[in-house]
Amino acid sequence: MTVSSAPGKVYLFGEHAVVYGEPAVPCAIEQRATVTVEARDDDHVRVQASDLSLDGFTVEYTGSTADRPDVDVPAPLVEAAMGYIDAAVEQARDAADAPDAGFDITVESDIPLGAGLGSSAAVTVAGIDAATRELGHRLPTGEIANRAYRAEAEVQEGQASRADTFCSAVGGAVRVEGDDCRSIDAPDLPIVIGFDGGAGDTGELVAGVRALKERYDFADDTVATIGNIVRNGERLLDPDADVEADDRIAELGRLMDFNHGLLESLGVSSRSLDSMVWAAREAGAHGAKLTGAGGGGCIVALDPTPETLTALRFTPGCEEAFRAELATDGVRRVA
Ligand code: PMV
Repeated sequence: MTVSSAPGKVYLFGEHAVVYGEPAVPCAIEQRATVTVEARDDDHVRVQASDLSLDGFTVEYTGSTADRPDVDVPAPLVEAAMGYIDAAVEQARDAADAPDAGFDITVESDIPLGAGLGSSAAVTVAGIDAATRELGHRLPTGEIANRAYRAEAEVQEGQASRADTFCSAVGGAVRVEGDDCRSIDAPDLPIVIGFDGGAGDTGELVAGVRALKERYDFADDTVATIGNIVRNGERLLDPDADVEADDRIAELGRLMDFNHGLLESLGVSSRSLDSMVWAAREAGAHGAKLTGAGGGGCIVALDPTPETLTALRFTPGCEEAFRAELATDGVRRVA
């Protein structure tokens, strides 16, 4: 039996624009997906998944990944989760040159599905690592990130950047621009997350932004401006930046506010995301923005005080609010 875990992430800056070659800065958080893999002596794959959300629902089924599990979860979310597990299994079989390997797989995750916290990347990264190790191979982290990216891109029909999978594999804060992925130093940030209990359809939201960009020059400019915000954010994150700690957080927050406004103008926010963002700002957060594809899911705010957390818990449309620690480890070999 082999067990690996991998972290989820928030985007401090740059989602959507990263799809068009602008830089993005995601940051891994200590909300993890844990994948347990046991080799079988036939070529079947059985998957048991539980706690695929914070509290919202529990998925429990056992069956071939081709079967539709009978669970009380929106079908597209379950299908998506199964797709990532299938793709991870294929990558592991390929990496270990064992095309007929079969597995019993258990997925446990405290990252809500499809909510902008990188649940699919975390499951894919941990799944590839655990399944290849179960077959007697240890892949370097860079290769896990690459294979997880290929798996995600396949499931998302090409609509994926390397940001989520790289961040989940290596941990910490990272900078991704096209194929150029690297770790960056970041200060400890007082991250607060609000979750509306929902999810967005990444493929649809990415396609929506693409259509706007094709139709309007100013949407194209908006994407470029997000890139500009990311470059400003990166300079502030640099530990050698000539800025006081309090000013740094305040300025990072201001840039997050800008970034959210531009994402909103690109049509990827929602009423509940906006009301959580405003609740955070009114509670005194330094800044707040949606994270990930949008449409529903999570916001990320910066606030060292308890105010934002409290305000979010009383905000209609916010189902969960919690603090997130930066995850310095990426994929972790648990057993
Ligand atoms: O919502 P998530 O965690 O799947 O993030 C999507 C981020 C996008 O930039 C919209 C797409 C991508 O693959 O980078």
